[in-house]
Amino acid sequence: ESTLGAAAAQSGRYFGTAIASGRLGDSTYTSIANREFNSVTAENEMKIDATEPQRGQFNFAAADRVFNWAVQNGKQVRGHTLAWHSQQPGWMQNLSGGTLRQAMNDHIKGVMAHYKGKIAQWDVVNEAFADGSSGARRDSNLQRTGNDWIEDAFRTARAADPAAKLCYNDYNVENWTWAKTQAMYNMVKDFKQRGVPIDCVGFQSHFNSGSPYNSNFRTTLQNFAALGVDVAVTELDIQGAPATTYADVTKDCLAVPRCLGITVWGVRDTDSWRPEHTPLLFNGDGSKKPAYTAVLNAL
Ligand code: XIL
Repeated sequence: ESTLGAAAAQSGRYFGTAIASGRLGDSTYTSIANREFNSVTAENEMKIDATEPQRGQFNFAAADRVFNWAVQNGKQVRGHTLAWHSQQPGWMQNLSGGTLRQAMNDHIKGVMAHYKGKIAQWDVVNEAFADGSSGARRDSNLQRTGNDWIEDAFRTARAADPAAKLCYNDYNVENWTWAKTQAMYNMVKDFKQRGVPIDCVGFQSHFNSGSPYNSNFRTTLQNFAALGVDVAVTELDIQGAPATTYADVTKDCLAVPRCLGITVWGVRDTDSWRPEHTPLLFNGDGSKKPAYTAVLNAL
């Protein structure tokens, strides 16, 4: 196959990218994105601050620009993200307790209703665990509403759109030996045992010198899949874009039947959120990097 999306589709998977609404007027960007990818995640436009800037007043203008571009070009959409400590609007940052819990659930209902039946996967909760060796939850205003905030969010999400796969998404959870990975594993195991509605786990996979790729990522994906959830690589970027590491990540997903697909976090290096601007599959001029060919050959 000659594109990432078509190659991934040969095994029933997708190959996606993050799309920024502000770049949709750039024809180099859109032509690469449309040619190579068959899944889209809005880089920022479906986050809480963008979709509910004032409490109870939803704004889907930017989100719909990304969503409509994706659907009009035949791509599936990953929804990102409904409950998160970051990129909260000011009004939500200032809430706590039962009021915040209610606002979280109202937000989930409002956004999911707008896209009901049209989103393949939703990142219901993002980044709820702390980095380091504690294995603890990350402190946040949402966490301070009570430890059950995550399962509350998933139950609300299931009721709001029963057709969407509901994912938990996090970073620094790819290495099986890390405490954060084990903490996330124990949560998902507990949710499955108690019937909390969770369908998938997203591994952001922002690899860099501080959190490098390790070949035990495949073990991690296999162990989560064995709990009865799908897995996905949701925000892949690798500092320096070494071709071998990109191929390894691709092979890890392909080795796990429940790995749904891979999303890279941007199109060209110049589109990347990473300050180094080196981690993606295309150069700033739109040409293919060695990592692109390595991924295509591995698919
Ligand atoms: C990033 C975006 O790429 C940036 O444009 C924005 O300034 C900050 O957020 N984990 C996530 C993503 O779940 O939403 C983040 O995206 C990257 C880390």
